[in-house]
Amino acid sequence: MTDSTTFPADFLWGGATAANQIEGAYNEGGKGLSIQDVMPQGITTPRTDGPTDDNLKQVAIDFYHRYAEDIALFAEMGFKTFRFSIAWSRIFPLGDEAEPNEEGLAFYERVLDECEKHGIEPLVTISHYETPLHLTDTYDGWVNRELIGFYEHYARVLFARYGARVKYWLTFNEINSVLHAPLLSGGINTPKDQLTKTDLYQAVHNELVASALATRAARELAPNAQVGCMILAMPVYPLSPSPDDMMASLTTERTNLAFGDIHVRGEYPGYYLRSLRDQGVDLVITDDDRAVLKENTVDFVSLSYYVSVAETADESQRVVGKGNIMGGVRNPTLKESEWGWQIDPVGLRIVLNQFWDRWQKPLFIVENGLGAKDELVEIDGRKTVIDDYRIAYLNDHLVQVGEALTDGVEVMGFTPWGCIDLVSASTAQMSKRYGFIYVDRYDDGSGTLDRYKKKSFDWYAEVIESNGASLTR
Ligand code: BG6
Repeated sequence: MTDSTTFPADFLWGGATAANQIEGAYNEGGKGLSIQDVMPQGITTPRTDGPTDDNLKQVAIDFYHRYAEDIALFAEMGFKTFRFSIAWSRIFPLGDEAEPNEEGLAFYERVLDECEKHGIEPLVTISHYETPLHLTDTYDGWVNRELIGFYEHYARVLFARYGARVKYWLTFNEINSVLHAPLLSGGINTPKDQLTKTDLYQAVHNELVASALATRAARELAPNAQVGCMILAMPVYPLSPSPDDMMASLTTERTNLAFGDIHVRGEYPGYYLRSLRDQGVDLVITDDDRAVLKENTVDFVSLSYYVSVAETADESQRVVGKGNIMGGVRNPTLKESEWGWQIDPVGLRIVLNQFWDRWQKPLFIVENGLGAKDELVEIDGRKTVIDDYRIAYLNDHLVQVGEALTDGVEVMGFTPWGCIDLVSASTAQMSKRYGFIYVDRYDDGSGTLDRYKKKSFDWYAEVIESNGASLTR
């Protein structure tokens, strides 16, 4: 039990998704191709030339046709908010056109209608791992400065069309992941091992400037909007108490923290500039870029949190484990999921405190959850999944959110990842399930796409209903 006052009365309970992992309809409604159409196995294999039939994302969970049914189920759980992304290539099929695709715009209008019908506040990611393929093939993605203009134009179209209906916006999903997954996160076609550091960090800079320009556009076109950055949060612990390990963990952690520092403070921190110098990176940064970054900082900081990692200066101790996009040194004190991601609920409290201490901006946990294999069973004539492991994972993480709130951290809400089963980002599997709602679809593409409520569906509904008081400590 948490104290009934732990979670604020306006806490935004909900769930999170991304267009490419739920919508399907990859070539319907005038949609263009995105990088996801050439990544049938996620980030586990090199991209293909064009779409291939083995790509589960072509149909995904068919949210494009079933959104009304799905949003009604979210409402049944009591969602206050629903995080989804807009597929850039539904609005601009190539990415560099002047005029948007009306059919794409109309689709998200229908999604917003359903949210409004149920009193659910939309939380919209402008770019979630779905750069239009044309921008990748023709411009090499975010390496090219021209993408700043294309993105700003896209964001302006969204704010003009939906600005009165959508309050919460995120500019780039897990913006820091571009350092580790350049194609997925930055739409960069040049393979990672051939990409120069200068091109990689120029892509980072271009995205940061684009994020600031979108923030400026929101202020102009949607004055009630709040714009947040989105950071893949991953606390880094020193593997031992040695000062060298502490310094190594700080250095690694700063590769993530830099993104929040720049979004919140509007300038490059000294340690980041030093690291660029040390790597021989020479960026093109104009005076205008500096001014744009400084004048258009974010309203809030959102984060995904799944794992913590360790770090050491001692090469002989560097046993690297798996993790969300980027892994890290394995922490021998933690257990791990079936996919090898280490589970650390206290790490969430640590990262919330760290971000709050550092930035003093409201925080929004827009992803957290357990990817696990589920077994569909029949109980009293009803199909369900007894997912006690998922309930335990989310319960333990939410208890730590409660602790952070009690520490005085301002947390706006919690939207666990994949509130309905979806296609995994890193491995493109259906069998890696996160949802409260089971979707009858399998890795070989078979399945009816029917939806079933898991045990966690009722559990989460009770957590929301009681505003966290039903959590077990
Ligand atoms: C985050 C992404 O990295 O983690 C999501 O924002 C992704 O798109 C989620 O799905 C979980 O990762 P995975 O690889 O298990 O789907």
